[in-house]
Amino acid sequence: MKGIILAAGKGTRLYPITKPVCKPLLPVYDKPLIYYSLSTLMRANIRDILIIHAPGDEDAFRHLLGDGGSLGVSISYLAQQEQRGIADAFIIGADFIGDDSVCLMLGDNIFYGPLFRHRLRKIVKNFKDAVIFGYYVNDPRAFGVVEFDEAGRALSIEEKPKHPKSNYIVPGLYFYDNRVIEIAKNLKPSARGELEITSVNNAYLHANALHVEPLGNEYTWFDAGNADSLYEAAGAIRTAQRSGKLIGCPEEQALKNHWITVDQLRETADEMEKTKYGQYLFGLIDEIENDD
Ligand code: G1P
Repeated sequence: MKGIILAAGKGTRLYPITKPVCKPLLPVYDKPLIYYSLSTLMRANIRDILIIHAPGDEDAFRHLLGDGGSLGVSISYLAQQEQRGIADAFIIGADFIGDDSVCLMLGDNIFYGPLFRHRLRKIVKNFKDAVIFGYYVNDPRAFGVVEFDEAGRALSIEEKPKHPKSNYIVPGLYFYDNRVIEIAKNLKPSARGELEITSVNNAYLHANALHVEPLGNEYTWFDAGNADSLYEAAGAIRTAQRSGKLIGCPEEQALKNHWITVDQLRETADEMEKTKYGQYLFGLIDEIENDD
């Protein structure tokens, strides 16, 4: 399965912060926002990753992540020339996806929770059709909203409904088989002029091929797209990390997946020696070396 991170938004909901720096590179407490989506894909065992960015932003992303080599992954980059919506990712990424399946992660979403790694791997391993999540929120009106019947089957999905039929939103982590490319190519722009991911989900729903997995409240999800949610996410991450474990550390996932060696990790850690993040990486190295 291939992975795409959509990181091409102009971040207008974060102006003036995002005038000189794009949203996915903003800090969420101790690391850039994109680390959370990148490490989520890596948790799912996805190693071949395309970052779709806004025109002119490639250098900044490359400065941070390069070709992914130091994380044991392959990262390529493509620009989204016009803001055409989330589903445009499958048109831009069509050659990259080839005849494979694909997981799309929005570059401003953050997920964490117990055994998420295990859960994601299970989806990828047994993958077929399309898999998305349903997550309970108090006010679902700003999101894609999924309605269930009594047996828990999805009945409809609506984008930003004024009168939501449930409190379950569809967060920005989606898994699709290869049909998604054709589905995306055949979409018509919505009233807000976008190729909606909700239309893709509805196409799978109508083909009886959409699996909506509930994501319970033991999991935390943020759409860190405005100043309040970014601030809230940073606070939540800081609190959660008091346990001593970092959330959204791609180097840790690379090491767990055996995609990098201890020596490679040490190179990254040396660079960051002065921060808690760097010290955490040294801690991971110590754990392995003391295990031998
Ligand atoms: C987008 C999707 C929406 C989804 C949300 C998750 O909203 O259109 O279906 O629930 O991401 O973050 P947007 O960021 O375009 O407001």
